[in-house]
Amino acid sequence: MTETGGKILILGSTGFIGRALVAALGARAIPTVRKPVVGDPDSGANSGAPSAALSGAPLILDFMRPEPFIEMLSESDGFGARAAVIVAAEAKVDPCFLEPDRTFALNVEAPERLAKALAAKGIRPIFLSSEYVFDGASGRYTEAAAPNPQTAYGRQKLEAERRVLAAAPDALILRLTKILGDDPDDGTLLVTTRKQLLAGQTIAAATDQAFSPIFVGDLVRMIEAFVDRGSLGLFHIAGRDHVDRHGIVTLLAQTMDLAEGADIKAVSLDDVDFAEPRPRNLTMIGEKAIAETGIEPMNMQALCKRVAAIGQG
Ligand SMILES: NC(=O)c1ccc[n+]([C@@H]2O[C@H](COP(=O)([O-])OP(=O)(O)OC[C@H]3O[C@@H](n4cnc5c(N)ncnc54)[C@H](OP(=O)(O)O)[C@@H]3O)[C@@H](O)[C@H]2O)c1
Repeated sequence: MTETGGKILILGSTGFIGRALVAALGARAIPTVRKPVVGDPDSGANSGAPSAALSGAPLILDFMRPEPFIEMLSESDGFGARAAVIVAAEAKVDPCFLEPDRTFALNVEAPERLAKALAAKGIRPIFLSSEYVFDGASGRYTEAAAPNPQTAYGRQKLEAERRVLAAAPDALILRLTKILGDDPDDGTLLVTTRKQLLAGQTIAAATDQAFSPIFVGDLVRMIEAFVDRGSLGLFHIAGRDHVDRHGIVTLLAQTMDLAEGADIKAVSLDDVDFAEPRPRNLTMIGEKAIAETGIEPMNMQALCKRVAAIGQG
């Protein structure tokens, strides 16, 4: 049965996905930020005041010190939220290896504690996990595939999935593929590549790193649909195109009519100096989420056209 309505807490609203969620959800979103926004007296005043969520000012939640938020949540009426997306994380791979204690607290312990506090209020946690829970040996991973993380980031995400589910058995776990945006300043692969192509820069792109990217606009529509349907369990969020990094960079250059002059170097992941070796084939099958939400992800050609058209009115 389809259920609709209800606010959605966005725990960590200032990063790439958090911003997209808040923009798409509008008045449904109750955002949190790590610290008061400089120059906005309201956002500082609300740390701890349950009425802040009703005033529209962002709530304060530092994942490294979630106690004040958890206390405020437990004393509140839950702000009318039916779900909470646990977004904030150390989302880069190497820092999780290089700073294990900080990132374990941020990526594993905080989501577990928040999930427990949310469940106590009847608010369903939605945890954003990653394709890095897989080893990248075979690709085309479905929800039935056995995780086997090869990086500290992947191990943290898998551990967090397990702890969130133990703390809140009706949590929704979304394993995200590489998410692509079309905001010129979002720092994602296509918009960054567009800038490099326009500047005539050399672009090194691996031919042995595969993923199944999805547009951030489709991700946020799917999350809203999951909330409104009351969906439970584990879903892979992935597009239908399985591409390597070199392939997608080349597709964008072709779409921008810049392929001929572009200096796109085919490299291997082995040529890149990462702190930890990267899994190679992290493609996932997103069929279950597509069927559940009824949202057909934009294909890579259409997304490249969209990014190529940036600034053309
Ligand atoms: N983007 C992808 O392709 C992708 C793929 C798979 C999974 N994911 C997962 O999706 C989630 C969001 O990713 P993203 O790409 O949007 O990441 P992002 O742009 O790097 O944003 C990270 C967010 O975490 C917040 N944060 C960091 N430390 C914090 C703390 N101590 N307290 C509160 N907030 C803190 C940041 O806040 P500040 O602005 O204050 O630093 C920011 O809002 C992550 O869980 C990530 O692992 C993303």
